Amino acid sequence: MDKSQIPSESTSFWRDTLSLPKFRPLDTSIKTDVGIVGGGIVGITAAYLLSKQNIKVTLIDADELLNGTTGHTTAKITAQHGLIYDELIRHMDIENAGLYLKAADEAKQLIEEIIKTHHIDCNYKKEDAFIYTNSDKWLDNLENEYNAYRQLNINSTLSETMPLDIPVKSVLQMKDQAQFHPLKYLLTLIEESCNQDAAYYEHTTAIDIEYNKYPSIVTKEGHRITCKYVICATHFPFYDRDSYYFARMYAERAYVLGIQSRKPYPGGMYINAETPTRSIRSTKWGGSDLWLIGGENHKTGQGKSTLHHYKALQQFAEQNFEMKSCDYRWSAQDLTTLDKLPYIGPIKKSEDAVLVATGFRKWGMTNGTVAAKIISSQIVEQHSDYTALFTPTRFQADPSIRKFAQTNMDVAKHMIQGKLDNTENQLNQLAPDQATVTRINGNRTGVYKDKENQLHVVDTTCTHLGCEVEWNSGERSWDCPCHGSRFSYTGEVIEGPANKSLKQIDPAKLNK
Ligand code: FES
Repeated sequence: MDKSQIPSESTSFWRDTLSLPKFRPLDTSIKTDVGIVGGGIVGITAAYLLSKQNIKVTLIDADELLNGTTGHTTAKITAQHGLIYDELIRHMDIENAGLYLKAADEAKQLIEEIIKTHHIDCNYKKEDAFIYTNSDKWLDNLENEYNAYRQLNINSTLSETMPLDIPVKSVLQMKDQAQFHPLKYLLTLIEESCNQDAAYYEHTTAIDIEYNKYPSIVTKEGHRITCKYVICATHFPFYDRDSYYFARMYAERAYVLGIQSRKPYPGGMYINAETPTRSIRSTKWGGSDLWLIGGENHKTGQGKSTLHHYKALQQFAEQNFEMKSCDYRWSAQDLTTLDKLPYIGPIKKSEDAVLVATGFRKWGMTNGTVAAKIISSQIVEQHSDYTALFTPTRFQADPSIRKFAQTNMDVAKHMIQGKLDNTENQLNQLAPDQATVTRINGNRTGVYKDKENQLHVVDTTCTHLGCEVEWNSGERSWDCPCHGSRFSYTGEVIEGPANKSLKQIDPAKLNK
């Protein structure tokens, strides 16, 4: 086998190098203090923090734990969240930019403390973080960000070189950041919280929240988890109640290759300022360095072949890093909010028993830990210094709103165009492991032919709010461009906000 070829299957290195415990589905109605929906870094860290305070926690996940964005991250623990601080100072003020930085720094410290307390062997390593550019157009942006760093007393330098040997014109370095194996870390948090009586259930989908005296999470099977507080840690909140998250966030996919190089890894975590995005770090794999090359971000469900994003990363690795083998590929999805700050806290003023955490803009290791910390404080102490900054009910007038108008125009376009387009072709020429879109009785229909030549046919109308899903060839999934729901080729939900499968259609109908 040619080792430089991109692997045919998408497999996260983190999931592949760890065995996680299995939990049975919830099969009865129960009572608990805090019900958590979503088993990623937010849900599990909140379960850990709350159960340490003797609060009875029950966590459910629609799939398996750590199989969403957290299981597919690049796992940088850093307050360097792209170019953000200059923008925060300009659009808000220095106090709020400082508060955002403080929250990220405290999250970094908390992760480090937890690792020390439980002696977690999770490849934790201090690394400097670098934003670089090789484009004249971005030199001023890096300079402005550096000025913001100095105003915020961030330990940093602006220079023209960095340890990684690729062409650069300017480099902004933030010192003393870190990286780890996120699942090894979170496995300990699961075990520790279970020791404190937390309960975990997998393959248990939340579909609604009902209110009597207390809120109850209602599952697809009709069981209820009655609790004092509900934490929605489902990436995109599964519960909206007129909060319009679908109009306030957009989903982007990003791709990662795990490669080996003929060169040793020089240390450091890198991301460029321009597009296409390139993000680079390494991790230990046996005795070797596995280089994680990420990027190629784009809005979810754009209908192009997603495999070409992996190829672009492969080409980048070959050109710059003397690639010896391409060992892993995987992708992840993340959400960006109206003003780029996460939404963390009560879903709305009148529903303060339901807390959400979403919109981490690809910086989920720190922002997810920030969210778990804030929500735990809001539950235990009824207070957090960060409540106002991250409250989901805020409205910041921000220039990015124009971008959102564009995003929502795209959403509308996908709702309309998806219904009108006419791609009734290729069915006869469909090769194994390919998909196409056709029409049955005028209804837009997705057809995937698997490797055994069996056809899987679904109605392409997303069950969330009715946009039209598009084929993602890299992950063999149907992805919704509007709010990022993803469905397997047989139509089952992989990622919300949708919680209902795509309608399956009998392949025999294709011939009528
Ligand atoms: Fe909202 Fe598809 S995810 S319409």
